[in-house]
Amino acid sequence: MRSFQPHLFVILGASGDLTSRKLAPALFHLMERHNELRCCHILGVARSDMSDAAFRDSVRDALHERHPEGSDLSAWCDDHVFYQSLGGGSGYDGLARRIASIEKECGLPGNRVFYLALPPKTFPGTIEALGQANLHETPGWARLVIEKPFGHDLTSAHALNDLVHRYFSESQIFRIDHYLGKETVQNLLVFRFGNALFESVWHRGQIERVDIQVHEDLGVETRAGYYDQSGALRDMVQNHITQLLSLVAMEAPARFDADSIRQEKIKVLESIVPLRPEDVLLGQYAAGEVDGEPVRAYREETGVPDGSTTETFVRLRMEIANWRWRGVPFTLETGKRMPEKRTRIAIRFQPAPVSLFRPYEDTCNVRPNILEITLQPDEGFNLHFDVKQPRMPLRLTPRRLRFRYDEVFGDLPEAYETLLGDVIQGDQTLFVHADEVINSWRLYTPVLEASLPVHPYAPGSTGPNSAS
Ligand code: BG6
Repeated sequence: MRSFQPHLFVILGASGDLTSRKLAPALFHLMERHNELRCCHILGVARSDMSDAAFRDSVRDALHERHPEGSDLSAWCDDHVFYQSLGGGSGYDGLARRIASIEKECGLPGNRVFYLALPPKTFPGTIEALGQANLHETPGWARLVIEKPFGHDLTSAHALNDLVHRYFSESQIFRIDHYLGKETVQNLLVFRFGNALFESVWHRGQIERVDIQVHEDLGVETRAGYYDQSGALRDMVQNHITQLLSLVAMEAPARFDADSIRQEKIKVLESIVPLRPEDVLLGQYAAGEVDGEPVRAYREETGVPDGSTTETFVRLRMEIANWRWRGVPFTLETGKRMPEKRTRIAIRFQPAPVSLFRPYEDTCNVRPNILEITLQPDEGFNLHFDVKQPRMPLRLTPRRLRFRYDEVFGDLPEAYETLLGDVIQGDQTLFVHADEVINSWRLYTPVLEASLPVHPYAPGSTGPNSAS
């Protein structure tokens, strides 16, 4: 039985916006739903000099947004939230002393979560410093949470894994991919393995192709410093979209637990045929207009270096060479400045082997059945099929069966809420295993190193022309 045990939740990089935007709201929301989680204590850590009181106020702001009228958790912050600066010379030894003193003062058993809410380039130095200060050695449990991207290619991902494993075992490491925390993504396994009807047609004999699309209408916004070093392949494909692919394509696990599920996902990645340059199309948004408003080109965005060739669009086609999928094309597509924000998976089934309605050709084309899974927004499913239009001479018309989450369940929880709850309870099912990261980088690193051409596309379009 999983439970919330008393612990210290240490946020490294606590002055950044991840803490106020995601972590603090998610922790508060969890505490509102699970009273027993109020045994948690939070320690913010950053370089800047700040008092406990000032940090508490910044954390309370996140609470205030949810409850402008006030919340009893506001008082809770007074004796559960602390701040430690890494500046002023004491560094990680000072942090170790502070952690020991908070644990003693608050009667904590030494259970610790270290959450790296930091720029990726600082991961290695921070992990090394935590290890050198022996912060991972504790009478309770210690868990390390790392945001994506985990490495920037195969070599760096190996090096980062080696470093982390020097101080933490794999069962203590929680590599975050926030897509795995989305309800609609978790539902992929329930949908497949809880409904025998769909699983019985989920293979090359019945499926013609699978398309996974993650479109965003926004541009790079204020994140050019990070994004230009990363690009869509590293930012979206290597992690989020590859996770979606693994969940759609994996075999049924022996048990519904972290090890069994992650082993099946790894096997999918191991079966993907190496990508060739002709399987990949890269693009970058040019200047143009969206809804009548002028939109800057990616290269003109603040912070993007002149002449940058970083891709903001990727479309690639791959094949999974295993018994279930051989010969079925999977296309993965993502882009910024697309017509709308939409994440969807389309499963297109094989057409009927014979068209009975061929004599009436122009009105009786048989369309393939498509299962469209919308992960966001308008979360839900559409199953498309044809019906006979009543009364007409024989005519087929497309219709759909439709399910929408919001009509049944209301608002869905934020991904971070689910993921933080799982970290605190020690459940790794929704986190990425070292071998998943390595296999994913093994697949995409040759593409990253191939210097493929990057084609311009108009903002508000669906990518470079050749994408069609
Ligand atoms: C992040 C990427 O991981 O995911 C962003 O760094 C992207 O570039 C974001 O915009 C998309 O997440 P979501 O949940 O809005 O689809």
